[in-house]
Amino acid sequence: MKLAHFDPADFLANHWQQRPLQIRNPWDDWQCPVDPDELAGLACEPEVESRLVVQPEPEIWALEQGPFDESRFADLEQCPWTLLVQAVDHHVPDVAALLSQFRFVPNWRIDDVMVSYASAGGGVGPHFDQYDVFLIQGRGRRRWRVGQHCDDNTPLRPHQDLRLLADFEEAAVYDLEPGDILYVPPGVAHDGVALDDDCMTLSIGFRAPSRAELVTGWSDHVLDQLGDDDRYADPGLVLQPNPGEITPEALDRLQAMVLAALGDRDQFARWFGASNSTRKYPEIDWQPEAPLTADDVRDALAAGIPVLRNPASRFAFVRQDAGVLLFVDGEMFECAGEGARLAETLSAADEVIVGETSDQGVELLLALVNMGSIAFAGDEDDA
Ligand code: SIN
Ligand code: CO
Repeated sequence: MKLAHFDPADFLANHWQQRPLQIRNPWDDWQCPVDPDELAGLACEPEVESRLVVQPEPEIWALEQGPFDESRFADLEQCPWTLLVQAVDHHVPDVAALLSQFRFVPNWRIDDVMVSYASAGGGVGPHFDQYDVFLIQGRGRRRWRVGQHCDDNTPLRPHQDLRLLADFEEAAVYDLEPGDILYVPPGVAHDGVALDDDCMTLSIGFRAPSRAELVTGWSDHVLDQLGDDDRYADPGLVLQPNPGEITPEALDRLQAMVLAALGDRDQFARWFGASNSTRKYPEIDWQPEAPLTADDVRDALAAGIPVLRNPASRFAFVRQDAGVLLFVDGEMFECAGEGARLAETLSAADEVIVGETSDQGVELLLALVNMGSIAFAGDEDDA
């Protein structure tokens, strides 16, 4: 299925990371993929990240962290509230299926699907996020106000738990009905208020590493490989008039030592692919009770059983020479030939009928099944 009146190439050129876009119900026959009871049930689970924002008075927002006791939802009637549940796609296959419409953005940029459920007047307050988001109206109606561009210097209200904007410069207002979508770029102020009870919003969230995260992560990794005897050396040191000077030549050599250690592109690709594919929530475990064997994999393939990707797993690859490096859940697989084609196929779709494959392909599938990153349909634990 494709989103109607939505052109991904045009969107990427003119809106992505630039300006908001309202997409009026582009679905064939929009059905909200999760219901409020199911969401409340997830918010009671200890391994699921959930929050409740309650508004006892206008302009006052109070945050409670989940997991919640069921009884908490019974006392909620009096004031506006919003329940927010993270990574619902990891638990509800119909929510995970929504992501296939947004794969015009690469896998490694996709984070997860957060779902909120609010009573009339409920919202999380005016704020900005560091990330791109598609806000899909699941049920009910929500009014989104979109405002100014914000950054680290934008003034915030004093609040213990929430990063709420001190000022909101309204630039546009969008009333979303079920199936409508609003794209909001990073740093753009927004404020969504439920227009009725039974207001559900699904947020397709993206991620982007900060420069600080990249520098710390990569340099820590490089540091682990450096020995104590890899050290500054200056054979042929020339006499200098003032012993107090650190000469430009010395500085060049010192800086070159740092840049050379950090500048290895191949190692960087390996480190980034592995670290970026680490799971955010490792809990959804599809690992088989007893490890499968290569023959089990061959039998499942011969029977035409589809391979499913664990929705909590992260798949991405990097091309290398004739093959690819496949990254799954923090692990790297060097794949060539048939194995490389299979790695590309698995990275492109969350359900694949593999059919016949080489021994290399079987080995790759076997490793991934036993890690719990894929399963043959029918064997997945949480789907
Ligand atoms: C919501 O769903 O109420 C909040 C989503 C957001 O503003 O990022
Ligand atoms: Co937001």
